[in-house]
Amino acid sequence: MYLQIIGILNLLTLSNQFEPVCNKILSKQIHDSLPVNQYILSGQLPVKEGSHSYLAFIFYGSQYASNLQQLNNYNTVLWFNGGPGTSSQLGNYFGLGPLNYNEKEKLEKNQYSWNTRFNMLFVDQPIGVGYSYAYTKDEIPNNLDEIAQQFNYALASFIEKCQLQELSKESKWFFAGESYAGKYIPAIVYDLLKQQEPIVNVQGVILGNPWTEPTAIISEMSSYAFNLGLIDLQERQKLDKILLKTIHNIKNEEFSKVSDNLQTYFTELTRMSGGMNYQNIRKFGSYAKQNQKLESYLNSETVKNLFKFPLAVTFTLTQNEQEKQGDVYLALKDNIGQSDAIQKLEFIVSKFPVLIYNGQNDALCTNSGTQKWINRIHYKERSEFLNQNFDTIQFNNRTIGYKKMVGNLGFAIINDAGHQVPRDKPQELFTIINGFIDKLIEKSISRKIHIFELKTLLLHKSLIYKMETEFTNLVEDGGVKKRILQEGQGEMPIDGSRCKILYKGTLEDGTVFDSSLDKESPYKYRIGKEELIKGFDIALKSMKIGEKAELKITPSYGYGDEGDSFKNVPKNANLTYEIELINFKQAKKKKWEMTPEEKHQEAINKRTKGTAAFKQQNYKEAEKIYKNALSYCTLTTDEGNELKASLQLNLSICCYQLEEYKESLDYAKKALELKTNQQQKLKGLYRKALANIKLAELEEALADLREAFKMDSTNSAVIEELSRVKQLLKEARMKEKEIYSKLFQQKLYDESEIEPKKIEIKEAKSEGSSCCDPNEKIEEETQPKPENKDGQIQEEKPEEREQPKGENQENNNKIVEESATSA
Ligand SMILES: *[C@@H]1O[C@H](CO)[C@@H](O)[C@H](O)[C@H]1NC(C)=O
Ligand SMILES: *[C@@H]1O[C@H](CO)[C@@H](O)[C@H](O)[C@H]1NC(C)=O
Ligand SMILES: *[C@@H]1O[C@H](CO)[C@@H](O)[C@H](O)[C@H]1NC(C)=O
Repeated sequence: MYLQIIGILNLLTLSNQFEPVCNKILSKQIHDSLPVNQYILSGQLPVKEGSHSYLAFIFYGSQYASNLQQLNNYNTVLWFNGGPGTSSQLGNYFGLGPLNYNEKEKLEKNQYSWNTRFNMLFVDQPIGVGYSYAYTKDEIPNNLDEIAQQFNYALASFIEKCQLQELSKESKWFFAGESYAGKYIPAIVYDLLKQQEPIVNVQGVILGNPWTEPTAIISEMSSYAFNLGLIDLQERQKLDKILLKTIHNIKNEEFSKVSDNLQTYFTELTRMSGGMNYQNIRKFGSYAKQNQKLESYLNSETVKNLFKFPLAVTFTLTQNEQEKQGDVYLALKDNIGQSDAIQKLEFIVSKFPVLIYNGQNDALCTNSGTQKWINRIHYKERSEFLNQNFDTIQFNNRTIGYKKMVGNLGFAIINDAGHQVPRDKPQELFTIINGFIDKLIEKSISRKIHIFELKTLLLHKSLIYKMETEFTNLVEDGGVKKRILQEGQGEMPIDGSRCKILYKGTLEDGTVFDSSLDKESPYKYRIGKEELIKGFDIALKSMKIGEKAELKITPSYGYGDEGDSFKNVPKNANLTYEIELINFKQAKKKKWEMTPEEKHQEAINKRTKGTAAFKQQNYKEAEKIYKNALSYCTLTTDEGNELKASLQLNLSICCYQLEEYKESLDYAKKALELKTNQQQKLKGLYRKALANIKLAELEEALADLREAFKMDSTNSAVIEELSRVKQLLKEARMKEKEIYSKLFQQKLYDESEIEPKKIEIKEAKSEGSSCCDPNEKIEEETQPKPENKDGQIQEEKPEEREQPKGENQENNNKIVEESATSA
């Protein structure tokens, strides 16, 4: 077990050196809105040998990753706030982390949390900042090199203690931060890259409103304020004096005076502008009040216990405000004016992409100041960069900023945001960062495959995995591309499958336009009907259970040239999805969804089921199934009609067995009406005859059997029935004669109302003299209820009634089937 808690007292008294701590934190204990299995770590890390000081961190794994292994599939972003002396929790709780600390002093889910896409690591650094602890003031670094060394020592310990060795290699790491981190990050990454084998796989740097090159920034401050009308000309001249003095200090390396002068400058600017917030000139009043609230929340026992941070360390959010200059601020005070990060940044640009962004409303690190020093960065494509114009950044049909990127250097301006862009424009920033990192990923993947030979790939499982994560085309025109993030297993769904999935769709600029992740349960998706978009169906059919993948979908497989106004998908939008197939069920289509051919097949399947039930003598059930099967017969071809007739013949037998002779007769008639083939006609005539016998329509039965006999004179069943009917008719005629004569005698003395019947009978008799006489008329006298008609016949033929029904049916069937095969 690598989890461990060390009390602060232990570490101060017992150990020679601070021992690293890595805690696994249960996401649900932190907040209800976090995914249950989210991988969250916190802890403390030593910064050098023999020291009792440590850096504190909070790590939020990607929201899609629920275990250590899965973390490796995501890029990792480190975040630092600046100061000097500002805790990275400022970024964490104001726009970057999974939880926002809102105006109402409550935590709420941050839907633009960077860990919806990346693993996020927030570190309070250097020692003495936020939750991090400096054992003595002397240990707090006062220069960038030492800051970098301490941090990278801690980073190595983080990787080891939290067992993230794979993540350090598999994942692409981006170092991001704002303000003073514009100095920290170049120093830290530079120090990393100097190592023979960097601790982590650095792939890029992101700097927001960075304090990287003091002189350039300071020289633009007053003109910015003046041009925006925050101060008048006289005020500007006054402020210019302070700034000129500051630049003079820097030139003369009087660094201790720089920060004090800058403090004076901003106090004056705030006063002159009537209380404007110099970190965002569109706001009035500083962030102090809200910051204090967050600070006391993060300093509470509850939060410290939650993240297992020692209670004895007092948490402070910032240290560079005049009234409370903390130890870290004081240690680095003289560093503020130094120009010691720009060359390191140039070195990094020569290796990896660097994105610098700037909020438009920042009077501290103004966009003009930033552009001034960016334009001085020496790198391969510098002249192209200088000649390149801005593109607008579009988002939800509005311009949210401007950008340019040439080679490894990118610059973006974010409209209506101040010094802390994550706090002011979290969605817009996340959009831009996604776009930036996406570009880099595609680049670096192709580079990777280039570098490693296949042989090496086969030797190293982890590298094979990398290769599999290349995008592959799922359709010929390249409209649907897939990259597997995590392998699945087993079957793949097909049309009609009901899938449980998780997904998130983003536009090219990184905007999330559709997501299942904010819902309680997985999304249920039925393949085959393009419930969402065409590309989704295609991709799902290529996925196995448990597979996670990234999709790239062109408009023709997405929302086309119309877009989707409801989801805010613009016209002709390329889409990116992250998708996980949790499981699926093969589902039958509903009847109305089937084509006539599919229904035909379904009817055949049902007929087999019906016959099985019939063989079990479960006639009621069989009847139900056959009837249902009949409702699937919509095909009007010969084949369709034959199927329909066969089912009607099936039903005719069923009803016969259920003693529903009228229905049995009707089904046989319907089968005959379809005029399908000789064989079915034969069967139809035979079934019709059997039903008619039961209904005492002997004459009709005789006619049908004679016709059947004409068709097949060797059919034993037909022959047998034919002779039976003849016999029955004979008997009936005899009996009738008998009754008739009796009746005749009786009726002479009877009431006159019966008279008409006598006449009827006579008429009937005289009409049908050649063949037979209808029994009914006679029977009506003795057995007036029509349902007893056949009972009457059965009485006359006791041997048939004794026969068990099943057996009788089998005989019937056997015979007819025989006739069928012989025909
Ligand atoms: C975007 O803006 C243009 C121009 O104002 C407008 O014509 C178009 O309808 C807008 N599209 C959406 C999806 O709002
Ligand atoms: C969509 O992506 C394709 C390449 O996959 C590209 O050619 C096309 O320009 C993109 N469309 C838009 C609107 O960005
Ligand atoms: C129903 O019809 C099919 C096809 O003619 C036949 O194979 C099957 O035996 C029939 N079932 C019964 C119970 O007669």
